[in-house]
Amino acid sequence: IRSLPLLARGKVRDNYAVGNDRLLMVATDRLSAFDVVMGEPIPGKGELLTRMALFWFDKLQGIVPNHLTGEAPESVVAPDEVEQVRGRSMLVKRLKPLPVEAVVRGYLAGSGWKEYQETGRVCGVALPAGLRNASKLPQPIFTPATKAAVGEHDENITFERVVELIGPDLAEQIRDISIRLYSAAADYALGKGIIIADTKFEFGLDAEGRVVLMDEILTPDSSRFWPLESYREGTNPPSFDKQFVRDWLEQAQVDGKPWNKKAPAPALPP
Ligand code: C5P
Repeated sequence: IRSLPLLARGKVRDNYAVGNDRLLMVATDRLSAFDVVMGEPIPGKGELLTRMALFWFDKLQGIVPNHLTGEAPESVVAPDEVEQVRGRSMLVKRLKPLPVEAVVRGYLAGSGWKEYQETGRVCGVALPAGLRNASKLPQPIFTPATKAAVGEHDENITFERVVELIGPDLAEQIRDISIRLYSAAADYALGKGIIIADTKFEFGLDAEGRVVLMDEILTPDSSRFWPLESYREGTNPPSFDKQFVRDWLEQAQVDGKPWNKKAPAPALPP
């Protein structure tokens, strides 16, 4: 997009300034995992993720306000750029982002499963003994992470650390809102045969200091979606998201040695 100033190029999304109070977020087809961007894009990915996020923003708007402005993204770009943004962009309010990744888990997977095996806890939350990989938790838990700087990996943190970062009032608000959002989405998805094992939300403050849901939500980039029919506790369930990319990277070899997470992404097999 040349008609708007580029504010930030993320791993997957490009953000453009629209005046000083709005952003055009463009979801590209880039694929990223473990802080690296894969060399090969997935055609149509940006559009699919945008459609999913818009679906969930609409469904969950009764729980918390979100950053969508309600205007068509196409209205703010030059006529010859409309095709580039159509279906893959959101026109949103510019917010002050809170420095916390608000992760909610209903099942044990990924870093949750790893931390539980080592400590019996996830982000300081004590869990019953005897849980297995992919076990359903007694209730959904809030397991925040830091928003790491570029090149650093996000780190799981305790709720007390969130209180130190943003104060008790905001910490409690985002915890409670995140659990309500996850629970509503997970109930809906379960009715369609999909388990939402876990997901990540991001929040910002608007000019009046209100908490607003931002970013993209409940997509395969920010969530684990498990088909109910193949779910088995104690296994790595098939996952309709980018888990297969993480799994592939974890076993990838470069020049006969395991791929180092700080190195550029290895090329995918032909
Ligand atoms: O890797 P981990 O188990 O901590 O991820 C938990 C959930 O949060 C997953 O659904 C993952 O996709 C999401 N997540 C994310 N962005 C991060 C960290 C986690 O979308 N930076």
